[in-house]
Amino acid sequence: MYNLAIIGGGPAGYVAAQRAAAAGLKVILFEEKELGGVCLNEGCIPTKTLLRSAHLLDESKSAAKYGVNVSDASIDYAKVLQRKDKITKKLTGAIKVSMRNLGVEVVKARARIAGGAKGDFTIETEEQQFHSENLLLCSGSQSFIPPIPGLECPGPVAMSSREALQLDTVPQSLVIIGGGVIGMEFASLFNSLGCKVSVIEALDKILGPIDEEISGLLQAAYQARGVDFHLKCKVCRVEGNKVFFIQDDTTEQCIEGEKILVCVGRRAHAQDLGLESIGLQTERGALKTDCHMQTAVEGVYAAGDITGFSMLAHTASREGEVAVNHILGIEDKMSYAAIPGVVYTHPEVASVGESEQSLRARGIEYKVYKLPMAYSGRFVVENERGSGLCKLICDAEDRLVGAHLIGDPCSEIVSSCCLAIEKKMHRSELQRIVFPHPSVSEIIKETSWSE
Ligand code: NAI
Repeated sequence: MYNLAIIGGGPAGYVAAQRAAAAGLKVILFEEKELGGVCLNEGCIPTKTLLRSAHLLDESKSAAKYGVNVSDASIDYAKVLQRKDKITKKLTGAIKVSMRNLGVEVVKARARIAGGAKGDFTIETEEQQFHSENLLLCSGSQSFIPPIPGLECPGPVAMSSREALQLDTVPQSLVIIGGGVIGMEFASLFNSLGCKVSVIEALDKILGPIDEEISGLLQAAYQARGVDFHLKCKVCRVEGNKVFFIQDDTTEQCIEGEKILVCVGRRAHAQDLGLESIGLQTERGALKTDCHMQTAVEGVYAAGDITGFSMLAHTASREGEVAVNHILGIEDKMSYAAIPGVVYTHPEVASVGESEQSLRARGIEYKVYKLPMAYSGRFVVENERGSGLCKLICDAEDRLVGAHLIGDPCSEIVSSCCLAIEKKMHRSELQRIVFPHPSVSEIIKETSWSE
């Protein structure tokens, strides 16, 4: 009998396994593919590895502005892919070692629940049955393929982000359906590598819920680099390498691409888990939980993309921790108030908490403080090519409730805003924190002083 059985070894499952085992629980983890999940194997880490090479190429083009002569910088895409595979292997290997060191039993197989109740759930693989007092379901999500004629059985042209990561050459042209996070990161990658990129987006802006001023700045930056954006567009059909769409309900248009990338969101993967055997139901394909990540069935927890909510690796890991703490009887609950979201374009975009749009929609009063990133000396030193913006949102009492940034390296500096928001910090408290100088993070303190 195990104390905890976890199905799915992505950032929710493996982090929960580490925390639970470190606290002395007897843990078994089922993963049919590789440990690390989509994030490590075909999402966050591989894309960031490719983007790193693309950004270096971008930088080399402006190296002369820094007094550095770089001639004939070019990409060896085969080597870029090799590096991606090497890094993925290294990081998945590190998780395996950690599981071994902590005494987590890892079973490489597809697992299903076969009945039971809190105190004794049965889990089965094709070969064996196991028993556990508690269950944590972390089976993740899958790319959503919209019901667009021509995408039912995509041929060699249309692809999801998974296939896009495996292309062995850079296409000459790419049409991206969906201008969300995945769409913009791939637009950034392939634009830097010399591919002609067009983005078709259903909404009137890219990056969905991201602050509209920030997403507008990102769009302008990529337009200047030759990316075409087609907003407010409804894709009607895909025929071979052609995408037909209607913009603003006017006449039909068509764009061709050597490849077509479909990235219109992901859906929770909660099928075939045997949920019916314990009377657990999904809601719109996802598993609902309380603030302790416990589902409607006592002793059964869910964490990560399977909840269909805040589909981010760092949310998943935290949710896994919350579930483990509840099992251990440690006071904890999940908070979504300060979950950062980063788009690893060049420049990066980072966002946490409320936006002007989200507060306006709920009729909540707010104050905005903003400054160009160029108010940070370090930003000026390091960003010959780039501009940027830091925007802090405070509530009526002047407590920080949101932060939205564009400019490198905002993925790194946004964490201080996460802390401030989670701790409900007042603007005057933020003003009294000492930030290192010179650092780009100083922009946060500077902005808190701007009126
Ligand atoms: P998304 O939800 O970010 O964006 C999808 C976009 O497609 C939306 O803007 C939507 O309006 C648009 N769309 C939907 N149907 C359309 C249609 N028929 N035609 C044109 N546009 C259409 O989803 P995305 O980019 O696929 O990412 C999936 C998940 O992965 C997200 O939850 C995201 O947060 C996560 N992710 C996070 C990353 C990060 O943190 N850096 C990186 C990659 C993915």
